[in-house]
Amino acid sequence: MSDSSAKSKKKSRNKRMTVPAIQKMKSKGSRITMLTAYDYTMARLLDQSGVEMLLVGDSMAMVVQGHENTLPVTLDEMIYHAEMVGRGSENALVVVDLPFPINHQGVHQTVVAAGRILKETRCQAVKLEGGADQADVINALVTAGIPVMAHVGLRPQTVHAMGGYRIQRDRDQLIADATAAEQAGAFSIVLECVPPELAKEITELLRIPTVGIGAGPHCDGQVLVSHDMLGLNCGGYVPSFVKAYADLKSVIQQATQEYCDEVKEGKFPEE
Ligand code: KIV
Repeated sequence: MSDSSAKSKKKSRNKRMTVPAIQKMKSKGSRITMLTAYDYTMARLLDQSGVEMLLVGDSMAMVVQGHENTLPVTLDEMIYHAEMVGRGSENALVVVDLPFPINHQGVHQTVVAAGRILKETRCQAVKLEGGADQADVINALVTAGIPVMAHVGLRPQTVHAMGGYRIQRDRDQLIADATAAEQAGAFSIVLECVPPELAKEITELLRIPTVGIGAGPHCDGQVLVSHDMLGLNCGGYVPSFVKAYADLKSVIQQATQEYCDEVKEGKFPEE
């Protein structure tokens, strides 16, 4: 290896966002950005655009696989996609969702599954839905050296028990979940669909960063499903808190129609 390529390899290894760096952002008061990614191309585009964390979310079940909720996606499928995202990113910290119901199958099973994720992909952390009820699991993962992001508030994997996707307002439960996850060693917490004032209270209470989705502006960071953020949603449910920063659906459809027209008319390819 030449000197310059050795240097550039070293540089790219050093610049990936780390768990301690994400945590330090809270004390510095700098807001954290996170988006979902499910494949190499999207991971590369988002990573090169400066997002600090990528989430291989189980929302993949809905956005990529076309299911009606997040329950069907399997561990092997999460690993397959996490590998692509791992290959496509070099700057962002990559977090991978533990799919339903892995973390309810006991501490041992969860450590084995999360261990597979870290061993078989290039990703650096896992996310699991749960707070106080998952404290022992979080603690076991952290003890094994696996960074954990907890996910409290609306937990999409419990959609059937909740009877739909609803704003979570139980203050005592939310505070108990968030503090238990922090005490168990989670490095960060997603707060989903929590009233903004409550999200603010939890964010001020915790030492670890909160990352909000549908939880108002006071969290330490924000996460969105990238397909929603880019206007790529194809008929699925788009929550009211989503902001689309582009209309890629129209761009793709227009380009496709133009390509089809040109092929039919014999304009493409040219001599
Ligand atoms: O799976 C996912 O995309 C998520 C985000 C909504 C936080 O969990």
